Amino acid sequence: MLAAEADQSAEKPYTVTDGKVDKKTFNGWRRYTESCMRCHGPDGAGSSYAPSLVDSVKHMTQDEFNEIVVNGRTNVNAASENVMPPFGEVEDVVAYLDDIWAYLKARADGALGRGRPPRIGD
Ligand code: HEC
Repeated sequence: MLAAEADQSAEKPYTVTDGKVDKKTFNGWRRYTESCMRCHGPDGAGSSYAPSLVDSVKHMTQDEFNEIVVNGRTNVNAASENVMPPFGEVEDVVAYLDDIWAYLKARADGALGRGRPPRIGD
């Protein structure tokens, strides 16, 4: 497990070929759209309520990302109290944290544009 994580940080967690994505990255888009988009906006771009996750993943490790998604976070310093709900009990999210991370990294690296990504082999 630890060795696999170390490997992953050395290489990209996603595959994008000719603008098409692998299964994992596509699933990340799907899970993001189902569970995160209503607050974080379409394609990870952010909203008036929650930050752009495309920006967030540029300056956080996957461990930090996972921690926030599993446990949630409340920003008590903000003028209005914005709450990131904990997803630790949501199987459709916890089981696919790697996929959601892969999708957001592909967006952050500029490897993938907005919208529903086409799949390799489609
Ligand atoms: C109910 C609205 C809501 C949903 C749904 C939601 N979030 Fe959040 N999220 C927030 C808010 C608001 C913040 C900012 C909280 C803060 O500033 O402490 C946040 C913060 C975060 C952060 C930290 C960003 C940073 O730059 O520090 C991550 C990572 C994150 N969310 C990931 C996710 C993922 C992945 C999903 C889907 C599985 C998700 N969120 C779903 C509202 C939401």
